[in-house]
Amino acid sequence: MRYSKVVGIGHHVPETVITNEYLSSIMDTNNDWIVERTGIHERRYIDPAKDTVANMAAKASRLALQRAGLTEKDIEFIVFATITPDYFFPGSGVLLQRELGLESIGALDIRNACSGFIYALSVADQFIKTGMYKTILVVGAEIQSTAIDMTTRGRNTAVIFADGAGAAILQPSEKPGILSTHLHSDGRFAEELYVRDPGSSRPREERQPEQILDTTHFKVFMNGSQVFKHAVVRFMEVINEALNANSLKKDDIDLLIPHQANLRISQFIQEKLGLSDDHVYNNIMRYGNTTAASIPIALSEAWAEGKIKENDLICLAAFGSGFTWASALIRW
Ligand code: UT7
Repeated sequence: MRYSKVVGIGHHVPETVITNEYLSSIMDTNNDWIVERTGIHERRYIDPAKDTVANMAAKASRLALQRAGLTEKDIEFIVFATITPDYFFPGSGVLLQRELGLESIGALDIRNACSGFIYALSVADQFIKTGMYKTILVVGAEIQSTAIDMTTRGRNTAVIFADGAGAAILQPSEKPGILSTHLHSDGRFAEELYVRDPGSSRPREERQPEQILDTTHFKVFMNGSQVFKHAVVRFMEVINEALNANSLKKDDIDLLIPHQANLRISQFIQEKLGLSDDHVYNNIMRYGNTTAASIPIALSEAWAEGKIKENDLICLAAFGSGFTWASALIRW
């Protein structure tokens, strides 16, 4: 049996730090509310003059390659998770391929929002297991800041969402690495967290910029409490599904890395699973919710801080727009 293994992990976040105080100065919100309801103290926003989804992804990828002792030329395929591609089309995978100087390798984009990185990991895992590729670059990268409504009307998204990138390199392994991945969706809730436009099914006068009167639908909309209620249920379900599939118990988890949606969601899952603080990794306090980038950024930081050791059982879990939710169990 051939398995896949994460051999390198890296991340990159933009330089500009956006504090709760800054947000409170431009909309009706305040530090106490943000910290109490989300756990976030600050987040990073890009500088549009120099940052793109693809170049942040390239920086994260180069760090992952360096840590894996590999170079760009070793990469045979790219799986790129993002819902905020640099262009409406083509996807960011090809832009990353170009940025890394790789000439003709395949690049696939995945648009599964907060679950995107786990979906991407799962796709790469299958390609490695079948023997189709030996080295795959899996990326989660997002620029949310430019689609956020930065007025009081958009405050429930403005305080949460932010920018960043993370990357992982997968290679084959004789012994398990990725034990299993579990992917789900429920499209009945698609409009509870979405950016509607530029949707292709809009009449031409609502899609073409020179005719647009109302730009509301180009900004992120989220029904926060509805998303929250579903998140806490689905996170638990999909983590238990992964444990059951591998005949493992909650106590076997060495490190849980939940998608960094809201610290209260992470703490709820931690409590339900009865895990102590050193078995759960959170960095939402510093980076906010970076959608598909949040898990690889957290994985990269946790690894760099020495919190992930060989043979540890790592559990990744995510929930978000779609709704989609997913988990992965990894023997490091
Ligand atoms: O990434 C994956 C998907 N996303 C998530 O998982 C996010 C899930 N949802 C959440 O994290 C939370 O729902 C939020 C943090 C977005 C909102 O927190 P909440 O505790 O669910 O607040 P709420 O939406 O129920 O609103 C409570 C009150 C409202 O005021 P009234 O109607 O009670 O007077 C809101 O208008 O809080 C108000 N509010 C704010 N007040 C100050 C909402 N956002 C803010 C804000 N600052 N930023």
